[in-house]
Amino acid sequence: MLSLELDRIRKAYGDTLVLDDVSLGMDAREFIAFLGPSGSGKSTLLRIIAGLETADSGEVRLDGQRIDHLHPGDRNVAMVFQHYALYPHMTVRENMAFGLRNARVPKGEIDERIAQAAKVLEIEDQLDKKPGQMSGGQRQRVAIGRAIVKQPRLFLLDEPLSNLDAALRTRTRVELAQLRQRVDAGVIMVTHDQAEAMTLADRIVIMNDRRIQQIGAPMEIYTRPANAFVAGFVGSPAMTLVKAALEPGEGPFARVRLGDGAQVETRVSRAGLPVDGPLRLGLRPESVRPAAAGTGTTEAEVLLVERLGDRTLVYARLANGEEVTAQDEGNSRIRMGDRIGLAVDGKAAHLFDADGTGHHAEAAA
Ligand SMILES: Nc1ncnc2c1ncn2[C@@H]1O[C@H](COP(=O)(O)OP(=O)(O)O)[C@@H](O)[C@H]1O
Ligand SMILES: [Mg+2]
Repeated sequence: MLSLELDRIRKAYGDTLVLDDVSLGMDAREFIAFLGPSGSGKSTLLRIIAGLETADSGEVRLDGQRIDHLHPGDRNVAMVFQHYALYPHMTVRENMAFGLRNARVPKGEIDERIAQAAKVLEIEDQLDKKPGQMSGGQRQRVAIGRAIVKQPRLFLLDEPLSNLDAALRTRTRVELAQLRQRVDAGVIMVTHDQAEAMTLADRIVIMNDRRIQQIGAPMEIYTRPANAFVAGFVGSPAMTLVKAALEPGEGPFARVRLGDGAQVETRVSRAGLPVDGPLRLGLRPESVRPAAAGTGTTEAEVLLVERLGDRTLVYARLANGEEVTAQDEGNSRIRMGDRIGLAVDGKAAHLFDADGTGHHAEAAA
């Protein structure tokens, strides 16, 4: 059964439309990530769900009931911000109890809920400390604890990890994944970090330009990006997009000619493509391999070599000036300035039409 439903949410600040007809349905225990560039309306949408912001039109429903007219405290959701916003003069215990006391939850029950949350978060020995005596990661856990004790139907997390340093962020990400197994609620997390979204979420909502660009499981978004924006945004380094033109032919799959004249045989169905108009070929680095000059699909000049240990990224320029990212072994011998061949794995190539719509390889039979 659907838990949260967003139905045609619109929001403008003055003349600036920020969210245009955003609709989304979410299952009761689902973990959803809102992923998109800065300014794409992620926080605004989360705040509309929380009741900290009002939509200009559209409905928010939780378990079938409209909640968009309710006070934030009456919505059965709990929000955690990037800045922990703990009260510095209160202990951890008092910070966690504060909202419950205001809601007139009986003292015995408050103690019980705090004990439970502290156990889930493994901060049982920290309850009498003040936030100033704790590390950033511990403080963020207290902020999450303060949400847990409310026992909400839905957790709303706005960039909860982005204030933590890299090592702590990775560790807290793992903890968040474990925590998620222990709370009986849905989670929506806003992030601009695709690794966070890919590792934590059941489904990712990609936002850009006032709209949802794609909703899907992490690997679905990676392997079948709905459009050129998603293709370029998800994946690091980004998918290469180069100009391509459809070659005439009878076969079921599209064969395209690149700007430098090279031809690539894809597994994208020819039937689904527009008959004419410009295309772009999309190549993940892992589907472009360096080859000896004179072999492979085409040739290129190496602009930059990035050694990552387990693999080497090779940034190269085709004869017509377009750039392509290729991937080589960790111990690659390629150097800047080399002329190399590139072997393109056409089976893994994507095509994007003039509207930006993605067309992908047919699933292997
Ligand atoms: N209170 C506000 N008043 C005016 N403009 C705002 C306000 N809050 C957000 N915006 C604008 O709305 C857009 C979306 O912002 P936001 O939802 O914070 O994006 P994100 O969280 O994806 O970075 C941005 O252009 C931002 O400048
Ligand atoms: Mg934001």
